[in-house]
Amino acid sequence: MYSIGIITASDKGSRGEREDVSGQVIKEILTDLGEVKHYIVVPDERMALEEQMKFMADRIHIDLILTTGGTGLGPRDVTPEATLAVIDRLVPGIPEVMRAKSLEKTSRAMLSRAVAGIRGSTLIINLPGSPKGVRECLEFILPALDHGLAIMK
Ligand code: MTE
Repeated sequence: MYSIGIITASDKGSRGEREDVSGQVIKEILTDLGEVKHYIVVPDERMALEEQMKFMADRIHIDLILTTGGTGLGPRDVTPEATLAVIDRLVPGIPEVMRAKSLEKTSRAMLSRAVAGIRGSTLIINLPGSPKGVRECLEFILPALDHGLAIMK
């Protein structure tokens, strides 16, 4: 079992104006992979996102951080930039698969700028913001996650 952290990037969610369904969907889907040790909703702000990723990776040694939201083309979509700022190494295959497989479902999949990478011994993966996008993307990458996390130990 791995320790899991969830960061929802949402301006509305952070103000309590929108229920975070996507965060719940991640929790549900990953029950067999590990335990959610830390969960937070933050505004779409680079510093807040970077701080949370660093805290979860460096201070509480989370194995897997999933972010949801903020990967699109909107002016406040900064989750990939925050992730790129904190990772040591890219894991390009994960977003490659998410985009390729998601394109079979919606052409809008090409609009996600999601990235994945490693900080220390923590794997960080960006997921899109919608519950549907989260469900679909996790389904595509889940078969390889267990092995990926195992070899990072
Ligand atoms: N990927 C999948 N599998 N399913 C989806 O519904 N939505 C797309 C895309 N990726 C989607 C998806 C849409 S509409 C957008 S705008 C981008 O993810 C970015 O979403 P975000 O800004 O909420 O992160």
